[in-house]
Amino acid sequence: MDLLQVKDVSKFYGENQVLNKVSLNIKKGEIHGLVGENGAGKSTLMNILFGMPVIHSTGGYEGEMFFDGQPFNPKTPTEAMEMGIGMVHQEFMLIPGFTITENIKLNKENTKATLLSKVLGPKLEKLDMPKMREEAKIALNKLNMNIDEFLPVAGLPVGYMQFIEIAREIDKSNLKLLILDEPTAVLTESEADQFLEVIQKLASMGISILFITHRLDEIKRVTNNITILRDGS
Ligand SMILES: Nc1ncnc2c1ncn2[C@@H]1O[C@H](COP(=O)(O)OP(=O)(O)O)[C@@H](O)[C@H]1O
Ligand SMILES: [Mg+2]
Repeated sequence: MDLLQVKDVSKFYGENQVLNKVSLNIKKGEIHGLVGENGAGKSTLMNILFGMPVIHSTGGYEGEMFFDGQPFNPKTPTEAMEMGIGMVHQEFMLIPGFTITENIKLNKENTKATLLSKVLGPKLEKLDMPKMREEAKIALNKLNMNIDEFLPVAGLPVGYMQFIEIAREIDKSNLKLLILDEPTAVLTESEADQFLEVIQKLASMGISILFITHRLDEIKRVTNNITILRDGS
């Protein structure tokens, strides 16, 4: 019962082969560790799984993938997200001037009908802020995050940003696989502890986790299986 199968995936950037016949399988609800030195190809593999444009603007990749039993070859992040894949990048992707709620609900805002929208169509619906705040709060609570969802993101401690990005991903109702690219790199030790508890909780809810880290102690603590990448193999 594998959720994700990656079979013999290879990737070149120009002359440079950065992945060489990489295979891995991830079961439903499994925490799968991905380790390897800088430059080993970890982010490249994640970018393939998430349909990042950089992959397709540089000639695509070779090999086969299956997700949920279906052939899988996402050409855009939107396609990957529609399949149920979420990703938290090494770099933060939050909008500082927006509140925590607005960031979590970005592109999946709750709306309610207005008199005008009933006549002229859904584009004129109003944002349902109470509903958005309620749902943002539910996602934050799943992460044991006790924080006011109406605060702006700008000025929050870095550790919080990581959790808000994860809250944004688990707020998606169809989330099946969460890809975390070195999520603990920016966290303090106690934040990292909280973080590891959170991913174990998500896995127990049936969400599969692909967890990239440099820290071997974390890998030993929470993963069910490990893939090691060395020079793209
Ligand atoms: N957009 C790109 N264009 C050309 N080379 C790249 C690009 N992205 C990554 N690389 C190269 O691919 C190799 C693997 O990089 P990466 O996947 O980022 O490794 P990791 O995440 O394991 O540190 C490195 O040699 C890197 O220089
Ligand atoms: Mg990387």
